Amino acid sequence: MVLYTRMSKIILFAIVLQLIALNSVQTTVVNSCNKNLLLPNTTISINSLVCSETPCTCIPGCPFKLHLEFDSPRYLEHFKPDIIATYAGIKLDYPLGQDDGCDGLLNTQCPIVENEPIKYEVTMNVLSFFPEVTVSLNFTLQDLDADEPVVCILFDINVKKMNCPA
Ligand SMILES: *[C@@H]1O[C@H](CO)[C@@H](O)[C@H](O)[C@H]1NC(C)=O
Ligand SMILES: *[C@@H]1O[C@H](CO)[C@@H](O)[C@H](O)[C@H]1NC(C)=O
Repeated sequence: MVLYTRMSKIILFAIVLQLIALNSVQTTVVNSCNKNLLLPNTTISINSLVCSETPCTCIPGCPFKLHLEFDSPRYLEHFKPDIIATYAGIKLDYPLGQDDGCDGLLNTQCPIVENEPIKYEVTMNVLSFFPEVTVSLNFTLQDLDADEPVVCILFDINVKKMNCPA
């Protein structure tokens, strides 16, 4: 009987630990762009696999997802994600299939008020003609009314041609 109670306590403890692990979003360590721009809590994942440290492996044909959490530094009505990719000193605008950032909001809708907690997501599709190289990405959410960036992250990706992780 005593043994039985101890076992069930251990099992209960294990379940509680599991629930805590499920509730805390694992994040990716990324760099800040400059001190004036908010660095959001960032989770980068390839399919459903979280990339904890950059450079993140980026596989053509495999969904590459950016999940950001932050308290909005300002009122936002129109905004848009933007990525500048730098490779071998050449900068180019990276195409993102999201013209309206409001479409990426998970927990609220536009307009966003100042200090509102935001959960935002965008998926980029790595084009298959991309060579296997390391590329630096400067990702921003641009306030289209003020024509200014609101949040910004810097990170590297390693483009690899391999199968999508399950
Ligand atoms: C960002 O992460 C930190 C550390 O986990 C947490 O304390 C903070 O509340 C998070 N901020 C937002 C806006 O989610
Ligand atoms: C990234 O973009 C932000 C916003 O446009 C800019 O302030 C910053 O200097 C850029 N950083 C790099 C390394 O390109």
